[in-house]
Amino acid sequence: VKHGVSVIALRNAGHLGRIGDWPTMAAKAGLMSIHFVNTSGAGILVAPFGGINRRLSANPVAAGVPVEGGSPIVMDMSCCTIAEGKLRVAFNKGVTVPEGCIIDSTGKPTTDPKVFYGDPPGAILSVAGHKGYALGVITEMLAGSLTGGGASTPAKKDRLANGMLSIYLDPNRFAEHDVFAGDVQEFVRWVKSSEKVTPEGQILMPGEIEEQTKARRLRDGIELDANTWQSLVDVARSLSVPVDSV
Ligand SMILES: NC(=O)c1ccc[n+]([C@@H]2O[C@H](COP(=O)([O-])OP(=O)(O)OC[C@H]3O[C@@H](n4cnc5c(N)ncnc54)[C@H](O)[C@@H]3O)[C@@H](O)[C@H]2O)c1
Repeated sequence: VKHGVSVIALRNAGHLGRIGDWPTMAAKAGLMSIHFVNTSGAGILVAPFGGINRRLSANPVAAGVPVEGGSPIVMDMSCCTIAEGKLRVAFNKGVTVPEGCIIDSTGKPTTDPKVFYGDPPGAILSVAGHKGYALGVITEMLAGSLTGGGASTPAKKDRLANGMLSIYLDPNRFAEHDVFAGDVQEFVRWVKSSEKVTPEGQILMPGEIEEQTKARRLRDGIELDANTWQSLVDVARSLSVPVDSV
């Protein structure tokens, strides 16, 4: 990064999947970064604070920090209480979702993912009430309006397109390398030195839980519910891919 900072505006991308991959790659290259994402058309899912209809997209915000001698800190969270993918998995499994995540088409709280996919549909709530809503609105502006991809609008409902604004920062241009690296390490130690809620509990930095899950899944494989597996089999068959190879 020649100038110590780089800003990239991406519009009309396909589904970008896990936004946390970008800050992880950047942190491994020694850079801090923050990424704001919207879905300008087909991904409108979230009710505005005080409203009941879907108006915003899930609006993931992800950021990463390199940690010398350790795994990077990676925050990767949507501004809504539950990712739509997790609602789909719960719907496929026929199980309920946690309370406080979704509302039905009349604005009543529900834990039934069927209601979310009903006609008329339900909506997802923002995280932390008005605060998550405010962050979602700003994310729509940065990832949608600013990039030229557009904020969430029903006019583009037939196409799922992600917009992303990424800001990369070279920490070495702001502080001496050792000062920055030492401060990050000290902060991680300080945070983790807190007493735990339960003796067997753990205090994790953002990104650690995903690392643990990745290690477990690389070792044990990925659990899939029957409906999700069947969908994969159906797609494979439709493309003449032998199911044994899926
Ligand atoms: N491309 C898109 O349009 C789109 C839209 C929505 C979500 N997504 C992706 O979906 C994924 C899921 O998003 P989500 O909002 O459900 O995230 P999440 O709730 O699973 O995690 C949010 C953050 O909390 C941290 N965290 C979780 N448990 C923790 C613990 N016990 N201690 C400390 N930190 C903890 C995680 O490391 C993560 O940084 C993300 O990868 C996101 O990028 C993509």
